[in-house]
Amino acid sequence: MRLVSNPTLGVLFPVAQPGNVTYDRRSLIIDGQRKLLISAAIHYPRSVPAMWPGLVQTAKEGGVDVIETYVFWNGHELSPGNYYFGGRFDLVKFVKIVQQAGMHLILRIGPFIAAEWNYGGVPVWLHYIPGTVFRTNSTTFMYHMQRFTTYIVNLMKQEKLFASQGGPIILAQIENEYGYYEQFYGEGGKQYAMWAASMAVSQNTGVPWIMCQQFDAPDSVIGTCNSFYCDQFTPNSPNKPKIWTENWPGWFKTFGGRDPHRPPEDVAFAVARFFQKGGSVQNYYMYHGGTNFGRTAGGPFITTSYDYDAPVDEYGLPRLPKWGHLKELHRAIKLCEHAVLNGEHVNISLGPSLEADVYTDSSGACAAFISNIDDKNDKTVEFRNVSYHLPAWSVSILPDCKNVVFNTAKVSSQSNIVEMVPENLQQSDKGVNTLKWDVFKETAGIWGKADFVKNGFVDQINTTKDTTDYLWLTTSIFIGEDEEFLKKGSKPVLLIESKGHALHAFVNQEYLGTGTGNGTHSPFTFKNPISLRAGRNEISFLGLTVGLQTAGPYYDFIGAGLTSIKIKGFNNGTIDLSSYAWTYKIGVLGEHLRIYQEDGLNSVNWTSTYEPPKGQSLTWYKAIVDAPPGDEPVGMDMLQMGKGLAWLNGEEIGRYWPRKSSKKLECVQECDYRGKFNPDKCDTGCGEPTQKWYHIPRSWFKPSGNILVIFEEKGGDPKKIRFLRRKVSGVCANVAEDYPSTGIESQGEDRNEKDNNASLVHLTCPKNTVISALKFASFGNPSGSCGSYRQGNCHDPNSSLVVEKACLNKNDCVIKLTEENFKNNLCPGKSGKLAVEAVCS
Ligand code: GAL
Repeated sequence: MRLVSNPTLGVLFPVAQPGNVTYDRRSLIIDGQRKLLISAAIHYPRSVPAMWPGLVQTAKEGGVDVIETYVFWNGHELSPGNYYFGGRFDLVKFVKIVQQAGMHLILRIGPFIAAEWNYGGVPVWLHYIPGTVFRTNSTTFMYHMQRFTTYIVNLMKQEKLFASQGGPIILAQIENEYGYYEQFYGEGGKQYAMWAASMAVSQNTGVPWIMCQQFDAPDSVIGTCNSFYCDQFTPNSPNKPKIWTENWPGWFKTFGGRDPHRPPEDVAFAVARFFQKGGSVQNYYMYHGGTNFGRTAGGPFITTSYDYDAPVDEYGLPRLPKWGHLKELHRAIKLCEHAVLNGEHVNISLGPSLEADVYTDSSGACAAFISNIDDKNDKTVEFRNVSYHLPAWSVSILPDCKNVVFNTAKVSSQSNIVEMVPENLQQSDKGVNTLKWDVFKETAGIWGKADFVKNGFVDQINTTKDTTDYLWLTTSIFIGEDEEFLKKGSKPVLLIESKGHALHAFVNQEYLGTGTGNGTHSPFTFKNPISLRAGRNEISFLGLTVGLQTAGPYYDFIGAGLTSIKIKGFNNGTIDLSSYAWTYKIGVLGEHLRIYQEDGLNSVNWTSTYEPPKGQSLTWYKAIVDAPPGDEPVGMDMLQMGKGLAWLNGEEIGRYWPRKSSKKLECVQECDYRGKFNPDKCDTGCGEPTQKWYHIPRSWFKPSGNILVIFEEKGGDPKKIRFLRRKVSGVCANVAEDYPSTGIESQGEDRNEKDNNASLVHLTCPKNTVISALKFASFGNPSGSCGSYRQGNCHDPNSSLVVEKACLNKNDCVIKLTEENFKNNLCPGKSGKLAVEAVCS
């Protein structure tokens, strides 16, 4: 490493010398050294450049060595040969920020990426080049894939970003999990996989290539693992290292779905098991999930939030205790690096579900991982004549084969209490919301000149080519006066079948209702009584796509749109409108005129009002708003809106839809971390809107005069829209006396050894705030969780005093669980724990 000053930044930053990256069966070898690497996925277009340095720094502070990102083809190649690398898509800038942080980077070029990103990252235009089939030996697909891959590699080379040139990129990935799909493409699939590997290798990057979940990866590339657990993975060749490209520390959400959480104890367990069983590179997918701005979310139905329950939340704040627990884990693993990578390995069975993996190097240094994979029972084991207590489903890490510095099930990191503090969109001096709205109502049905008329239906995606979520189709029917339902005052019933993803129905310009698919299943039926009058009736549908498919065999051909429309309840029975002449129009007028952008704002006649209409479909709302005070991240509460799109100052916030998940689904109060995780295991939010808050990056705001534009499809109440500031208002910790600690905080401070080994409770409030009050403190056997701790029957009455003395009015404090501090444990003989909840302000 050497320090170089950057003329634009005027600071010194470390720049690696040209680095040689190779590998052997044990690990990557960087500049001749075997490396044990913790990697973190942060996708550059899922945040904004202003957030990148902070996110990378938070990863670094969390004990991460490598940042991993996909490359987002459809964000870069907007039409064939027309490239874009501005704003959120400034890949070079992102890679340089990682470099300036002194970290490595894994570049997963794909360029097919899945990633819950629209169309799996492949540009939609490529599908419409005749004869193209994605991800097989299709000449046009391969041509464009190679051209884009080469473009990216050359760009990185020009900027000297590969490790071989002194840059941060240590690995590059081609394709993505093709091993699952190859079989569906027959011989063509096999040929394509091998072609992809050799095309990549021929790029001469000077760094190794990986292919994830590619079971027959050729010798020239490293096959890697993606899963919730990869301890049992073995590379397909004995001279390749064991690399885990996707460890999912949470999961993504779909509009109308639940909110998945993966407990930190289980994430840590999976990581520790991986390194215990010989792994050497582990990447969290995602470490910061971020936001699917605009229409970048894949589908159908992936939410705008891509928070992922990741160690860093959507807004860029560390998620505690997950982030903190993993930081401790990384520190413990790093203490084992040399012995683990260079030592002799022995595996010792210590009983059913119990094993130790011991690594001893030539200098005699020894590191051990002891695990209990029983998912119910805690166990005590003897290892080298010492007895160790292992909670169920946990790994203890002993960097010296003697002292446990970390156990995956014992969380000593603090938790944060995070609040979304509401702010009116604009405040008058008196604090009253006096916001003036400009309103523009679209007509239901065809606006302007129709695009075409056709008997029957078209595929929506083939028609819009995904230039918009919207496709209008309209027809009319004539109702004779003799229809019985007119006389009886009853209503015929509209019956719809659709391939997906959703639609809004309108009869004679009136909004009738919305039909939509569920989960990731897009086909749906829609049944609704309709009011028809004698004479001509206009029936219109606004067909919707909600993000294109992101993976699956031949996913590029999956369509959307109506397949059948009938109306039941006429004198003659049911009429089938499916083969009627339908008039089509792509998109909605406001979108076409770009009335959300500076240059398009005045292309319609807005009506100004302090009382914007509510519950009105197809309505654009525009308001001039102030930035919320302070510097906390900002969200926007859209709970009282229906469904639509939002922009601030022309920047695309994304799709909003406070669609609720079913109450019938299973959710948990408290999640049992023990046992194999799956995305349905620890869900919350049953019966609640999947996403009510929408992230607006701070950097998009000016202090005042910001233009907020909303397109509401079915009806909402814009007066209820609020900005929210994401604030850490408090911290909690819950630590037992016998929790291991890496001892780093206590170095040099303590006099006796017992104190040195004492468990520590570390509390930190956000910068510029202090611990201003204690809400709860009890040493003994308190129960409950952060926000709801309760005293048990053992309680040291001095608990609050001790904690106050250590922490009050401080930004950061440490409390030692020593006998000296907590003398009055009323349950002698049992080990106690300290639970604290404190206010930060
Ligand atoms: C993997 C895929 C990723 C992402 C992940 C789920 O199969 O490689 O791109 O889609 O699943 O979040």
